[in-house]
Amino acid sequence: MIAVRTLTELAAQRAQWPQDIGFVPTMGGLHEGHMALVRRAREAHEMVVASVYVNPLQFGPKEDYAAYPRAEDADCRRLAQASADVVFLPTDAVIYPRGRERHTQVRVPGLSEELCGRHRPGHFEGVTTVVARLLGLVRPRACYMGKKDYQQWRIVTRMVEDLGLPTAIVGVDTVREASGLALSTRNAYLTPAERVRAPVLYEVLTEGAQRAAAGADLADVEAACAERLEASGFVPDYVAVRCAEDLAVPKATDADLVILAAARLGRTRLIDNREFRR
Ligand code: PAJ
Repeated sequence: MIAVRTLTELAAQRAQWPQDIGFVPTMGGLHEGHMALVRRAREAHEMVVASVYVNPLQFGPKEDYAAYPRAEDADCRRLAQASADVVFLPTDAVIYPRGRERHTQVRVPGLSEELCGRHRPGHFEGVTTVVARLLGLVRPRACYMGKKDYQQWRIVTRMVEDLGLPTAIVGVDTVREASGLALSTRNAYLTPAERVRAPVLYEVLTEGAQRAAAGADLADVEAACAERLEASGFVPDYVAVRCAEDLAVPKATDADLVILAAARLGRTRLIDNREFRR
């Protein structure tokens, strides 16, 4: 596996790359969830490029940018084991050569402002801005994104559509522990006691999805899920049932739905979701 850090290295490398590139953008702290994306890309493409970059633009001023796990050596070992061909390890200067303030911003209106966007103002602009830049630099045929970050996946898909970018966005199912807990770099923040409780998030969403699929009133389902989370020591930001495709509030005739939640457990903010049909 080759490590690329600078724009000069990237340009020299890229000139030799095939057209058929599968790309996996990450912020590192890699786990089996990330690896599932790399494996999907490996099965489908001649060349696999992964990036590891903790993007300051997508963290709020009071969020965990400084504390976010950074483990470049371990990340590179995992990527090499999974047969990635290239790891792109840019610095802030490579991603934002003009400085963060002066860099072109990419914003997907509407979709970016609700659910997690409501609780993390500016977060999704940070995501779409960095992903647009990474797609421009790597120029992949397909980019692999986890459905664990469901709203992010849908927003990036919308961005690529709206900008007419020549990259397919592929959503990959969430990888979970046996307990149901979705793998996440931020799970490392959980205390042992919180770790025991964390799987309740997925349990609650699973039950909520089952009730909604059976025809229960969606507002009732949302409220019941939030209450159950609170009873288990979570502080929910939201629980919402939305249309799977565009995250719109469902009409009576909409059948492909997703229940999404974000909730804090101690100092850790966990998100998860479950797709279902009714
Ligand atoms: P990060 O949190 O490192 O996640 C990188 C990719 O891995 C995302 O597409 C995410 O949805 C996926 N992922 C994380 N946990 C997963 C799991 N348990 N199962 C399946 N996929 C999982 O998301 C980001 O980084 C950043 O916002 C990024 C897109 C890289 C832009 O900075």
